Amino acid sequence: MLRLEVTVVGSTNESAAVAGRVGVNPAGSEVADEGRRRASDNVAVVGCGYWGKNLVRNFAQLRALRVICDSNEKSLRAQAQLYPDVEITDSFEGVMSDETIQAVVLATPAVMHYAQVKQAIQNNKHVFVEKPLALRHTEGRELVELAEARGVVLMVGHILEYHPAVALLKDIIQRGELGRIWYVYSNRLNLGKVRQEENILWSFAPHDVSVICSLVGSEPIEVNAWGGSYLQSGIADVTVNNLLFPDGVRAHIFVSWLHPYKEQKLVIIGDRKMAVFDDTAREGKLKIYDKGIEWRAGLPVPRQTSETTLFFEEQEPLRLECEQFLTCIRERRQPLTDGRSALRVLKVLEASQISLERGGASVRLDEIDKGAN
Ligand SMILES: NC(=O)c1ccc[n+]([C@@H]2O[C@H](COP(=O)([O-])OP(=O)(O)OC[C@H]3O[C@@H](n4cnc5c(N)ncnc54)[C@H](O)[C@@H]3O)[C@@H](O)[C@H]2O)c1
Repeated sequence: MLRLEVTVVGSTNESAAVAGRVGVNPAGSEVADEGRRRASDNVAVVGCGYWGKNLVRNFAQLRALRVICDSNEKSLRAQAQLYPDVEITDSFEGVMSDETIQAVVLATPAVMHYAQVKQAIQNNKHVFVEKPLALRHTEGRELVELAEARGVVLMVGHILEYHPAVALLKDIIQRGELGRIWYVYSNRLNLGKVRQEENILWSFAPHDVSVICSLVGSEPIEVNAWGGSYLQSGIADVTVNNLLFPDGVRAHIFVSWLHPYKEQKLVIIGDRKMAVFDDTAREGKLKIYDKGIEWRAGLPVPRQTSETTLFFEEQEPLRLECEQFLTCIRERRQPLTDGRSALRVLKVLEASQISLERGGASVRLDEIDKGAN
């Protein structure tokens, strides 16, 4: 049996998942106690491109991987060399008709998600699909309802929700440490991985939307977005989104693949304290600032006191996400990023896309709901 070793460098998000290394683990410590694949863990990973190979690595480490499927022979061959014990196929139809495959993990281009998720559910398979769930809210809703009717798990790869820093932040917010949330912003900027099939909004912003909705604890009522297409006509390289939540909470999301350096920063302004999650920082990724404005004699005076760095266990979010999928299948539970939570993200993306096309005009989320009826 092939043994694997994972080295996660610093950040535990996308970059860290990519930084994972596969090789022979002489000590076998990482995986020795995970045992052999269980009969219930017959997972097929479909799509082993840029991102899918990270899913392959994780499900292999979890001893759940049965089949790797990709229509690209070169990618398939590369994976076959790394995982000689795992079956490979270029036939998605073959995966669908194999009744011994209990679950599929889809890391194919977004445009295929709707049709592939639908077919998988119709074949009674549990599904973990990379973000976005689909390209339209109506399609996403159909998938969620189908999964519920069939009683299968439907999970969407909103990986950031599995980041230990985000989980800790959520706990801090729920305990009221920051007070009432006033404002949130998220920057996800980098140079590269320019996509031709989707714009930056659909490529990067699903992560920010899912985390912000989760931290605020609701979905926006209105959004707007503007963007700039510089490299390819009609495909935005940079977008800025504004989100308005109930109770006046506001957020903005700034995403770009045309930026001189990498930045992944989430800032939360509460009426008591402020928090910063800087996922590109080497150390001190999560900080709480006991800062704010106090009114003295009718004048606003900045209050600058302590800054606290919070520590959390470094774990690869993708690993936690994959474990969640398997646990939810075994225990018949809803994942943290289930189909319903993904629908919320999809609604925001669709409304933002409409706003982009309308030159930044505000779009109410109930417009999307109406479209779904
Ligand atoms: N969670 C994250 O942080 C993250 C990061 C990057 C990408 N993604 C998501 O992962 C998905 C894939 O993105 P990518 O960058 O890996 O794309 P990619 O183009 O590198 O890989 C897609 C793979 O799917 C294969 N494929 C296409 N059609 C197929 C079919 N019918 N049957 C089997 N295989 C097929 C392709 O050959 C390719 O290997 C997208 O949904 C993307 O949004 C998520």
